[in-house]
Amino acid sequence: MAQAQTVALITGGNKGIGLETARQLAAKGITVIIGARDKAKGDAAAAELRKAGADAHSVVLDVTDAATHAPAARFVEQQWGRLDVLVNNAGISRGRSHAGGDGDGAPSTVSQQALREIFDTNFFGLIAVTQAFLPLVRKSPAGRIVNLSSILGSMSAHQDPSSPIYGYLMTAYNASKAAVNMFTVQLAHELRETPIKVNAVHPGWVKTDMGGPEAPMDLTDGAKTSVAMATLSADGPTGGYFHMGQTLGW
Ligand SMILES: NC(=O)c1ccc[n+]([C@@H]2O[C@H](COP(=O)([O-])OP(=O)(O)OC[C@H]3O[C@@H](n4cnc5c(N)ncnc54)[C@H](OP(=O)(O)O)[C@@H]3O)[C@@H](O)[C@H]2O)c1
Repeated sequence: MAQAQTVALITGGNKGIGLETARQLAAKGITVIIGARDKAKGDAAAAELRKAGADAHSVVLDVTDAATHAPAARFVEQQWGRLDVLVNNAGISRGRSHAGGDGDGAPSTVSQQALREIFDTNFFGLIAVTQAFLPLVRKSPAGRIVNLSSILGSMSAHQDPSSPIYGYLMTAYNASKAAVNMFTVQLAHELRETPIKVNAVHPGWVKTDMGGPEAPMDLTDGAKTSVAMATLSADGPTGGYFHMGQTLGW
């Protein structure tokens, strides 16, 4: 990207893949804004990055709380006048037996509560945040929108007996990521005549609070696909689904 300063907002940027994505973007000289639902956690994450030399800021942004969206967008507009990169990273999952019987799981048993809560964050929240910030991304000469999906959102992988995720029945989470994939394709189409590129990423199975300690991928690699899609050049793809440079089947 040719402009002097590039500004990126990462939702759920206070820990896990989001924080590492912010760290790697900042190492490229990009100004990063940590979106966090908990102000103290966002401030701490930004301070940690600043200590390492980053131009890092934080803003309160709960993807499920629309009341935080406009103030966060106003903050970005007042400080920078535009947004170059939006990384829609915030996401949740639920175990099969979550307290209160609100677990995720097989289609025959998944709870309504898990479906609603997971869709609220992973899908409805992602769309609401994108809509709130899109006017600022349109002001960028090279806007990039990165949607954190998962291989678990791939319908072709779920139908392929040779896939490692074949038979992994977590209907609420998986469907929420498949829905993110559809939103990605539709938004990329709507914006196809603009410089904005919109892509979905599978970060890998990554050691985080969500991924768990047995995940094979460390955070450094786990943020690489998001960083690559956030820093695509003008001839890069839009409307795609990627993992570590590979195109995934929907
Ligand atoms: N880890 C994996 O193996 C893996 C694999 C495929 C896809 N992904 C996707 O990658 C993304 C990041 O996952 P992760 O592993 O880094 O998870 P994580 O360590 O659990 O971090 C999730 C982040 O999202 C934030 N978040 C949750 N709900 C939010 C809300 N309503 N508003 C704002 N922020 C919210 C969390 O904030 P708090 O600290 O306040 O909870 C946290 O910062 C997710 O979209 C996930 O689905 C992860």
